[in-house]
Amino acid sequence: MKITVLGLGYVGLITAAGLANCGYDITCLDVDIKKIQMLQNENIYIYEPGLEELVKENAKKSRLTFDSLENVSCIDSEIVFIAVGTPSLSNGSADLNQLKNALEYVVDRASSPLTIVVKSTVPPGTGKKIKEMYLGRASFKHSYVSNPEFLREGQALKDWFYPDRIVIGGDDREATALISHLYKDIDASIVITDITTAEMIKYASNAFLATKISFINEVANLCDLTGASIDGVVQGISHDPRIGSSFLRAGIGYGGSCFPKDVRALDFISTINGHSFELLKAVINVNNRQRLIPIQILKREMGLLAGKKIAVLGLAFKPNTDDVREAPSIDIVNLLVEEGASVKAYDPIVDATEKNCFCQEIVFTKNIWETLNEANAIILTVEWDEFVDLDWFEVYKYTQSPHIIIDGRNVLQPSLIKKIGFKYFGIGRNCV
Ligand code: UGA
Repeated sequence: MKITVLGLGYVGLITAAGLANCGYDITCLDVDIKKIQMLQNENIYIYEPGLEELVKENAKKSRLTFDSLENVSCIDSEIVFIAVGTPSLSNGSADLNQLKNALEYVVDRASSPLTIVVKSTVPPGTGKKIKEMYLGRASFKHSYVSNPEFLREGQALKDWFYPDRIVIGGDDREATALISHLYKDIDASIVITDITTAEMIKYASNAFLATKISFINEVANLCDLTGASIDGVVQGISHDPRIGSSFLRAGIGYGGSCFPKDVRALDFISTINGHSFELLKAVINVNNRQRLIPIQILKREMGLLAGKKIAVLGLAFKPNTDDVREAPSIDIVNLLVEEGASVKAYDPIVDATEKNCFCQEIVFTKNIWETLNEANAIILTVEWDEFVDLDWFEVYKYTQSPHIIIDGRNVLQPSLIKKIGFKYFGIGRNCV
């Protein structure tokens, strides 16, 4: 079966490679000619474990071909997946321009009725509206299906091949059956619903997970004030299967291209529908506040930060990705510089010189020991294995008084770190 995937960002490329691996012939399209040329030259611009091999393997078998939008005059596939970006606008709403352009493009080039599958995250109600606006006036009777993604960066292939569920939203039985059949080799529960519900499932999933994180962060903050330990609390509550143990890791909060944007968008959708979603507003506020904790600790412990040497370990929003979008590290390093600190930062894979979100005064080193050298304080912002496994005795020798460590992800062993001589601060671990 021939399938077109339009939009070769993170979700699009993984969807294309995953479907190709299931045996389908995938034509991959993107507006960005540079991206297409890179893919044609087997150059994978997205860092995701296993993706490069999967793309190369399927391209070799001619199951994946790449072309730019402007080169294609006619779409000859039965199914078109759209996976374009829906970034946040300044008011928190999702920008749907790329999706509208993609739909217009597909409708203009269709040579037969298509099943159009939207993978992009769009506000509940969008599919219904867009279907009327763009498909209603088309020459063919196309079907519209919402098929949200639940891929986690860093383990997206595992999530693609072994998903918890596949959500398919549509009001045309034949189309939803066709898309369910596409996933026949993947062992997962399939949830079939209407378009708007499928769109809401995506937002509700991300908003719920973000809520768990902000909730546990608030409990951790309270642990710091009362003398309880968040590690013990999580251990204690997670035995209850109704609570579970996942997404209860306290720290400096969530970042990335999904949670912050989707939670804001859901809040916006609530507001324009006349509802004030108080819980979501609190989730956002707690998360914004959480990333300031390392700066507050440093100011409390060292007074003025001007001239103090601070080493920041980790720039990505989480391990196993080079994505820095809305990463807590951005606010942390930029605020430290504002306070006059001398900041060095290191990340195992992020090339910070290519990112324009960090202010220029920060020194990025490719060698972790250069970052640590003579630091008065270390802030661990990402739980990369490389940091957890560091020889902390050696680190101590490189750093200088007052030898502070702020473990923004609660991954180090406080007893060991303190025994070495560091002043250790976690989030809610109450082991100062
Ligand atoms: C998230 C969802 O987990 C995916 O299901 C969804 O498909 C994706 O968004 C999306 O909408 O595209 P992702 O952003 O890759 O995936 O990252 P997560 O692993 O969910 O982590 C998000 C953030 O939460 C990270 O900054 C992480 O450090 C933080 N986090 C996670 C915590 O602070 N505590 C936790 O216990 C778990």
